[in-house]
Amino acid sequence: MSDKKYYIETYGCQMNFSDSEIVNSIMAERGMRQAQGAEDADIIFINTCSIRDNAERKVWDRLKYFRSLRRKQNNEKIVGVLGCMAERIREKFLDEHKLVDMVVGPDAYRDIPKLLEEVEDGRKAVNVLLSLEETYADISPVRMTGNGVTAFVSIMRGCDNMCSFCVVPFTRGRERSRSADSIIEEIQALSDNGYKEVTVLGQNVNSYNDNCTSFAELMYRASQVNPEMRIRFSTSHPKDFPNELLHVINEQPNICNYIHIPAQSGSSEVLKKMRRPYTREQYLELIDNMRALIPGVSLSTDIITGFCGETEKQHEETMSLMKFVRYDLAYMFAYSERERTLAHRKYEDDIPEEVKKRRLSEIISQQMHIQEENNALELGNRHLVLVEGTSKRNEHQLNGRTDTNKMVVFDQVDFQHGDYVEVEITGNTSATLLAKPIRKSSIGEFYSTETSVLAVD
Ligand code: SAH
Ligand code: SF4
Ligand code: F3S
Repeated sequence: MSDKKYYIETYGCQMNFSDSEIVNSIMAERGMRQAQGAEDADIIFINTCSIRDNAERKVWDRLKYFRSLRRKQNNEKIVGVLGCMAERIREKFLDEHKLVDMVVGPDAYRDIPKLLEEVEDGRKAVNVLLSLEETYADISPVRMTGNGVTAFVSIMRGCDNMCSFCVVPFTRGRERSRSADSIIEEIQALSDNGYKEVTVLGQNVNSYNDNCTSFAELMYRASQVNPEMRIRFSTSHPKDFPNELLHVINEQPNICNYIHIPAQSGSSEVLKKMRRPYTREQYLELIDNMRALIPGVSLSTDIITGFCGETEKQHEETMSLMKFVRYDLAYMFAYSERERTLAHRKYEDDIPEEVKKRRLSEIISQQMHIQEENNALELGNRHLVLVEGTSKRNEHQLNGRTDTNKMVVFDQVDFQHGDYVEVEITGNTSATLLAKPIRKSSIGEFYSTETSVLAVD
């Protein structure tokens, strides 16, 4: 088996990308090498997402392509479905469609070598058991495709929130936190290997709890590993955002001033049907509190349009909430009904597709406009940018993000990937800031001078 090459293709959220790195580690331990692409692989894994119907459709198209590849090359490629769709579709996948040889759910990746042996023996292999404990804490993810500067670290798995539209609790199982010590060790190892930014991941990081270590405490510990390493986090559920955490974010210069805080809707009635346990007013109060405790904090959101029974007035409430908050970034989706969810059982998916789409395009165009205005206000501002890579459009330009998660492009002088560069913003689009580089800097230097300038002012 170890002379075979594997290829892994990943769809869905950052959590799935992080899981693929765990699979890489499990495969590397068995001496397996990565192939360049599906075409030259003996084993193809597809790590899948079920969040919306179009996410699943993409996967079916790829599976059909893999089947045609198998036919064309006339070989015995093994095709394995991993991740959330594996959990949803299970054995049915193997029986009804001759597209797949193995199906592995998100808590069963340790079993992959054994399952591959079963497939080699001519059997179809399945493990979709969800676990109450698995966190892969002892597995060091193998980061084979990244930029060497930024990395994801999963700190918890599963979700207990049961928002009525969402399939994640069914595909990922119960919420569980990974031990704080193992997380800090992983961040230390990344720092030792030259990484400069870590994003800690969970479906709701605010409910992290390891033997009474809270998320705020974990973030504080993470920030102390290396003061020159940036820490980001995603996602936060608005139901619980303690002030203690806001203080830690504000006080530690290497914890980024950026919070992804999905509202989903601006209507309290819709939120209730979504089983999001906050009202429009409570959400807006939370935003006010964040802005009071972290001056200049950047905020982003997720929004669903056309949820069951959403009226035109309720849609307008979402528009007005977004206008009020003026997010720097928003991920916006048309509602897609998922089997097994409460919304599927209880409510009718009654908003016509064209209405969902029209509402979606209304919120998107409003948001683009707001982002452009927000970005225009940045003109002349100084930011510290962590260089992540070379611009795809122009090899003489670099790109990276500000502490507030805005993408910035500027001319290469003699900087390296992984450097912190102080820049001055000179222009913008709705998605990107353009800047001129001032000097190579560091978190320590940039934020201490920034404070002294403020003090003089
Ligand atoms: N745990 C995160 C979200 C993970 S899923 C949180 O609670 O914020 C990412 C986003 O996909 C959700 O925030 C939601 O906006 C969207 N989403 C989830 N289920 C969906 C569905 N059935 N139809 C459309 N969008 C959905
Ligand atoms: Fe889904 Fe809600 Fe859990 Fe997020 S918090 S993953 S939207 S159930
Ligand atoms: Fe998709 Fe699963 Fe993530 S459904 S969004 S890959 S948790």
